[in-house]
Amino acid sequence: MADATSLAYRTDVAAGRRDTRLYDRYRTPLDLSVAWNETLDTIVAHRSVRAYRPDPVPAGAVELAVAAAQSAPTSSNLQPWTVIAVADPDRKARLAALAGNQKQILQAPLFLLWIVDHQRLTRIGDRVGTPAEGLHFLESFLLGAVDTSLAAQNAVVALEAIGLGSCYIGGIRNKPAEVAAELALPPRSFALFGLTVGYPDPAAPASVKPRLPQKAVLFRERYGASDHAGLIAAYDARLRGFQREQAMPERDWSEQASQRVRGIDSLAGRHLLRDVLHGLGFRLD
Ligand SMILES: Cc1cc2nc3c(=O)[nH]c(=O)nc-3n(C[C@H](O)[C@H](O)[C@H](O)COP(=O)(O)O)c2cc1C
Repeated sequence: MADATSLAYRTDVAAGRRDTRLYDRYRTPLDLSVAWNETLDTIVAHRSVRAYRPDPVPAGAVELAVAAAQSAPTSSNLQPWTVIAVADPDRKARLAALAGNQKQILQAPLFLLWIVDHQRLTRIGDRVGTPAEGLHFLESFLLGAVDTSLAAQNAVVALEAIGLGSCYIGGIRNKPAEVAAELALPPRSFALFGLTVGYPDPAAPASVKPRLPQKAVLFRERYGASDHAGLIAAYDARLRGFQREQAMPERDWSEQASQRVRGIDSLAGRHLLRDVLHGLGFRLD
């Protein structure tokens, strides 16, 4: 038998971990021979955390999250985002009320707000005498949203790597104008989503939520034909298994997802977003 410190032993342990993590992600084996490491483990073991211990995040966690966020690629190095770290319980309570009364915002010691920020580039343009007319186009808004999202997700991975949990809060787009006022956002900036952060409550552990089979999301060379119905049915069954384990109400993903996108009444006020964005100074031409 291999010695516990030997390379062969460590390779075996890592491979076992890899297979378990990938199984958890898909609820079916995924045969990958890649050598496993801590980075991959952190990424594949992601789960959203919605129950937190009350203790604050450790010193330096915010700065680490921002360093990770700023390490993400950014279109033309424009860096068109800003993050606001909110820890004040009263402000968190007001933001929670604006985001559909999500309790986790109250519970998490830290709430990060990720802002698409065209204000900074606008001011730079004004200062150097080159007005930033290009920012008026939908493309620029999309660029800001893309870069902000890439940055935030890097922060999520870094926070998870040091044992913290987090959960995105798209709910803050339910009332974007009120959120902008609460955060004193300047014109041409917009809170894209929030992120609750804290130590996961061990009394309410979150589990890895299985994803669609790769055959449903991965094609090669061109968009392809897949056994769509069969793959979705398989996923519905796997997710029901997960819900059973979590003592959650059982519901097909396909039904749940269809309800989420069924129309205006399922958008929690967000169907008005274009008008609100115009009000916040984005033209979206
Ligand atoms: C942009 C974005 C917004 C989200 N908004 C919310 C939210 O408002 N409330 C919430 O509980 N979860 C929210 N989530 C978390 C998703 O529900 C979660 O990622 C998804 O169910 C998959 O679960 P997992 O992250 O545990 O794998 C959001 C996720 C993303 C990416």
